[in-house]
Parts: sequence; C-alpha cells; structure tokens
Amino acid sequence: MEVIIRPTTKEAVNLTARLIAAAIRRKPFFKLGLATGATMEAVYADLAAMNRAKEVDFSRVVTFNLDEYIGLPPEDPNSYRYYMNRNLFSKINIDLGNTNLPDGMAKDEIAEGQRYEKAIRDAGGIDLQLLGIGNDGHIGFNEPISSLGSRTRSKALTPATYAQNSVYFNPPDSMPKRAFTMGVGTILEAARVVMLITGKKKAGIAAKAIEGPITAMVTGSALQLHPSTVVVLDEAAASELKQTEYYNWVFANEPEWKPYR
Ligand code: F6R
Repeated sequence: MEVIIRPTTKEAVNLTARLIAAAIRRKPFFKLGLATGATMEAVYADLAAMNRAKEVDFSRVVTFNLDEYIGLPPEDPNSYRYYMNRNLFSKINIDLGNTNLPDGMAKDEIAEGQRYEKAIRDAGGIDLQLLGIGNDGHIGFNEPISSLGSRTRSKALTPATYAQNSVYFNPPDSMPKRAFTMGVGTILEAARVVMLITGKKKAGIAAKAIEGPITAMVTGSALQLHPSTVVVLDEAAASELKQTEYYNWVFANEPEWKPYR
C-alpha cells in the first residue's frame, strides 16, 4: 500500500483523477471500477474536464460500479445509475452500453450477484478500482463483518451507513435498507486500487483502515492485502495517521511520483 497526502481536498481529488487518466492513456481498452458518493463528485468533475480538454479518451473504456440500492430503478434520482449518468457518463465520451452497475430491480438477488461477477470476469477483470470509504469503514457496501472473501451479493446496510446516506433521500427513511455490492474478494481482484479519503470526519476510520489490523470489522483494511493500492488523502483525513513522515518521504522521493509532485 502507498499513502499520498495532499495539503488540500482539491489537490487530493486532482491527483486521483490524474492517476485514473494516466492509466487509461496507457491502456485505452480499460476496465474501470467506479464508486459513487459525495467524495467522488469532484473526481468526476475533474475527469470530465480532462475529457473536454482531450487529455483522456473514454471511448473504449468499460466501467463497473461497485454497488446499487435494491429497489431503486435507474431513473430514480437516488439510484447510483442516475448518479453516474449525471456526474460522469453524460459529461464524457463514453458509450453508455459500456457502463455497468448491478440492477437494483433484479428479482433474483443471487442470480444478479452471479451475473455481475460473470460480466466482470468476461470483460477480463478490472484494471483499476476507484474507492471511497464509509464512516463505518466499508468499501462498496461491504459493511462490518462482511467476509473478506465475499463476492457480489445483496447486503443489509448498517445504521451508520443509513445515517450517512439517508440525508440524500426525501423523506430520509425512503432510503433502501439493502444494496447490491461487489464483494471484498471481488475488489481485491482488481489489478490496481485507488482509494480517495477526504475530510476530518474520515480521519479516524482512515487510520484504522490504513494502519490498523486487517479485520472484517473495517472492510477497508482488507486493502492491506492488495498488492497495488494507493490511498490518496487530504491533510484533514490524514490527521490521525502515525507514519505520515514516511508517506511524505516516499511521495517526495520515489521516481514514480515525480509527475504528480
Ligand atoms: C459508493 C460506495 C461507498 C462510498 C462511501 C463513502 O459507491 O461504494 O463505499 O464510497 O460510503 O461515501 P462518501 O464519499 O459519500 O462519504
């Protein structure tokens, strides 16, 4: 795992977007794993701006989102399909037919999980998975005690996640209590993972995921098992990390980070 701390949220977001754009430039037939949530909105705005400036081409990119609420159709403004269309897909030159999310309206939940896993496999696997982290440490919607070997499936959401996300719903208790999510095992198979964590209120959970023990109680900690993960944080989210001096030294000195300094 590598940890990069940028002074501001804007710089952390921009570095994340540049990492994604550079990876797509290296391999145009790219399979990109995507996340939703407040943190990602600025990343998608930066990627859309880079696309407009012809710095990155999405025409041959295939995407797989992490998750979708169960019971929300694509046209529901709170569905993750709607979020993705609004924040990214409508603003870049991607073929909508190449964008994938679990089907929140699928009747057979077990079959839907299996279908999604097969779609990822058939595409040849995910080249880069973008992640945020929930207040309870979840990646995707892999809530505490999710198996670290789990695959795409339906999952009941925790009260912490409900509190985090129900603010977007009107009324708040119309938020679904369950979602489809890629499993921790699915995420760990991505060739590369880039996680973005911003804001003071994520500082405690960021420290647990990055420097704490690997535990199903904080599924983000499973990334410590992944061979190629970069976690990008702003200073506020990094404020409870212990090894910041080392992380900053690596970023300042390792040649791979030169273009991003
Ligand atoms: C969303 C997802 C979640 C979010 C996490 C952080 O697709 O997979 O794990 O990344 O809940 O959400 P925000 O950015 O809203 O704090």
